[in-house]
Amino acid sequence: MAQIIDGKAISAAIKDECKERTTAYLAEGKEICLSVIQVGNDPASSVYVGNKKKACAYVGIKSLAYELPEETTQEELLSLIGELNGRKDVNGILVQLPLPKHIDENAVIQAIDPKKDVDGFHPQSVGALCIGQPGFVSCTPAGVIQLLKRSNVEIAGKHCVIVGRSNIVGKPMALLMLRENATVCVTHSKTQNLKEICKQADILIVAMGKPKFIDASYIKEGAVVIDVGIHRNAENKLCGDVDFDSASQIASAITPVPGGVGPMTIAMLMKNCVDSILLQ
Ligand code: GUN
Repeated sequence: MAQIIDGKAISAAIKDECKERTTAYLAEGKEICLSVIQVGNDPASSVYVGNKKKACAYVGIKSLAYELPEETTQEELLSLIGELNGRKDVNGILVQLPLPKHIDENAVIQAIDPKKDVDGFHPQSVGALCIGQPGFVSCTPAGVIQLLKRSNVEIAGKHCVIVGRSNIVGKPMALLMLRENATVCVTHSKTQNLKEICKQADILIVAMGKPKFIDASYIKEGAVVIDVGIHRNAENKLCGDVDFDSASQIASAITPVPGGVGPMTIAMLMKNCVDSILLQ
């Protein structure tokens, strides 16, 4: 049976470290402020935004919530971002995705000042990551690195296979693992022989968006398996992209769903907010 990588405990430790740093800033008379913008009322987004506000309150970060109606125009949203870019008292700007269809997500992401881009989605942030320059890193892949490091998983020299090539997870994940000196292979929906490639991985990171797709037959004995997926099944139970019961029989360490990668995203968002003071 594999070691369970406890994302709940590791994310709690990171939030406590953030809280300590925030407390020190507050004692110096400095404040950290994150503005969170949600357009429309997608129920999943509302839950995520609520959790982000809760984490801010715990860490001691001030949060400014903008809950805009579904009909908000792109121009209105861009104008709000412009205003927040110019405000000295606002350190971070986060626009919850997905946005309503009439708004161009790329235009919105590009409007955020890279110095306030705590989500790490701006092309400048992604470019900086690509060439090893300082900048914000997308929270979920940054959280995966913390899970591995804090569970004493060696990354350097290991063969890492990533399943999924999204801008938010797969691509930045590949760059981060490369930065940690792993040998990286990115697979996707058009990949041939996916199973054979996954079976070569020392570290298998799955972000493909298909419930329980990866079972033990995709995993090399003793591999470390990180499951970024999250789905609700017919019985309303949460599961990941990995079939945990089968995979945990063969992996040496594995993240559960829930309680693995999920809580790390918000913990790393808090860390990006606290770090924003250093970049600004
Ligand atoms: N929607 C799903 N995940 C995320 C995230 O990490 N940041 C934002 N802004 N929106 C999301």
